[in-house]
Amino acid sequence: MKYKYPVYQPNLSGNEKNYVNECLDSTWISSKGKFIKNFEDNFSRLVNIKYSAGVSNGTVALHVALLALGVGKEDEVIVPTFTYIASVNAITYAGAKPVFVDSDPVTWQIDPKKIKEKITGKTKAVMAVHLYGHPCDMDSIKKIAIKNNLYVIEDCAEAIGTNYNSKHVGSFGDVATFSFFGNKAITTGEGGMVCTNNLETYNMAIRIKGQGLARDQEYFHDIIGYNYRMTNICAAIGCAQLERIEDILERKRKLAKNYINGIKVLGIDYHKETGNVKHSYWMFTILVNSEKERTKLRNFLAENGIETRPTFHPVHTMPMYFEKESYPVAEDLGKRGINLPSYPDLTDEDVDYIIGKIKSFYNVS
Ligand SMILES: Cc1ncc(COP(=O)(O)O)c(C=O)c1O
Repeated sequence: MKYKYPVYQPNLSGNEKNYVNECLDSTWISSKGKFIKNFEDNFSRLVNIKYSAGVSNGTVALHVALLALGVGKEDEVIVPTFTYIASVNAITYAGAKPVFVDSDPVTWQIDPKKIKEKITGKTKAVMAVHLYGHPCDMDSIKKIAIKNNLYVIEDCAEAIGTNYNSKHVGSFGDVATFSFFGNKAITTGEGGMVCTNNLETYNMAIRIKGQGLARDQEYFHDIIGYNYRMTNICAAIGCAQLERIEDILERKRKLAKNYINGIKVLGIDYHKETGNVKHSYWMFTILVNSEKERTKLRNFLAENGIETRPTFHPVHTMPMYFEKESYPVAEDLGKRGINLPSYPDLTDEDVDYIIGKIKSFYNVS
């Protein structure tokens, strides 16, 4: 079904075509070419981080980040159960064990108070996932990590433009990852980035993403690596996107403001900006009263041309990672949340229309 209002669509109206054509005309279409370095350097400036390595998507970015820190067999990595599956799968790819923690009911992010209970002698790292564009409580997470000698990996796939204490997320942990899938704040089609301030971690990430190539010897490989490289074509799209990132992020915050004002009269709960943070509202998300109500509202909106998404099912409810242990906040958020259309080309009138439909569902004028 084609929706009049999809939940997301990228804006590719700038130099995207010109730069992609430049790749085609120059024949630099694989993972060498000027756009890769440009994109990495400009992205480092956005995040205010020393090193960025482009990779083929946000999932492999996490795999590279974990391997670059030496996470592997016998290790445990603490991760929220309320996240997208890729955060958890990457831990499994690295050979480590994901250890779930519940979320904070206000921020919806990993609950630092519950991290401590899950630390064992095998815990090597905490993965802080900045879900839906709101940051985690990085002060508390870092304090716990320092005290227990743990690495911090930030999964910033959904948090381009998100600030914590006036600093872009990605610069708080030992390593951070981003995704540039078509529904992210900026896209490269498929793509990802591994960011760090640590030169050793960066060098290791470069080797892992590039087939484990030894540093000073051509075609000599001294570790098992992967081909996780980003193409020049993807980076070209990313360069064009970065030229307009401030406008895109501003527009998305404005849409969120419109949604917040519009739904006020309904008293519907939503994912609020909490603390000294900047929520980038990757997806503007509301919380309705029950799972049943969510299904009815989503169906009603779909009938009116509005695509929505349910919030993530907690990963511990899925067969590969099933646990009997209950994570009540994650389970509740996973049942009642709805992501509303959040793309930058949505006009104020479009948001008014969507809000109007939500109001008519609840019989409020
Ligand atoms: C929290 C989170 N982590 C990781 C990823 C993986 O990124 P990609 O789809 O680029 O592999 C996503 C993608 O949506 C995500 O939302």
